[in-house]
Amino acid sequence: MAGFIGLVVLVGVAGFLSAVRCNPGCKGTDGHPGEAGSPGRDGLSGMKGEKGAPAVSVDGPGDQPVLLRLKGDRGSPGVVGPMGPKGFRGHVGASGLPGEPGPLGQHGRNIGAGQSVSQQEAQFSSFSVIRNDSTYPPFKKISFQSVVVNNPGDFNMTGGTFVCRIPGVYYFTFHSVAKVSMCLSLVADSADDKLTFCDYNSNRIYEHMLSGGAVLKLAANNKVWLESFQDEQSASDTQDIRDKYIIFNGFLLFSNPE
Ligand SMILES: *[C@@H]1O[C@H](CO)[C@@H](O)[C@H](O)[C@H]1NC(C)=O
Ligand SMILES: *[C@@H]1O[C@H](CO)[C@@H](O)[C@H](O)[C@H]1NC(C)=O
Repeated sequence: MAGFIGLVVLVGVAGFLSAVRCNPGCKGTDGHPGEAGSPGRDGLSGMKGEKGAPAVSVDGPGDQPVLLRLKGDRGSPGVVGPMGPKGFRGHVGASGLPGEPGPLGQHGRNIGAGQSVSQQEAQFSSFSVIRNDSTYPPFKKISFQSVVVNNPGDFNMTGGTFVCRIPGVYYFTFHSVAKVSMCLSLVADSADDKLTFCDYNSNRIYEHMLSGGAVLKLAANNKVWLESFQDEQSASDTQDIRDKYIIFNGFLLFSNPE
């Protein structure tokens, strides 16, 4: 509006100036209309408006229709969080029901006839023989006077020798009781070394016991016997005639499967 007023004033002044230079009565032709002026400047900013009502009241959810109008769209789901700690162990449950019976096994195969009772008895071999002679045993193979057991008879009393009939593994053991020193060896013709055992009885008053034994693997006709041998015994030992007692035992542990 102010710009428009300014334009009217300028036009009025221009018309006055042209009228001053002209004589009274002269009359020129009308001038051309002036060109349109340039646009005016922007007007001033208006006053600040009043503050609007709060969207949500501080002390409550506010007006439900207002909230619904203000509510935004549902966001996208968040990422899965980290796994939580392991829980407590649970109680052991009750036993389950028995399972179904398994399928039948394969048919067995024949691995040969079983042994008769008489054949099984033939696999036994055992003996226990005693020398009760009070003289000192001479330094050689020992002979025995009485038999406790000799079943089925593999110990030859005449020769004082066990003769292997059933190849297998045997256990032999002996004990002697005397008031003098004793040295005895277990001898097997299949072995290179004699197994020697000595007991030195220095007081010659009380009875001492000497023991020895071994497990031996024997083939048929191998022989095993007991020998007395000279070590450091004195004449007082070998000339003693008080009671002496030697027991010699042997039995088959198991026969070879050959
Ligand atoms: C040894 O034993 C045999 C048979 O039992 C017996 O006849 C003999 O008298 C005994 N000898 C001694 C010295 O005890
Ligand atoms: C027992 O041994 C003696 C002497 O070595 C021998 O003459 C005899 O034939 C043997 N007896 C048996 C049944 O082998």
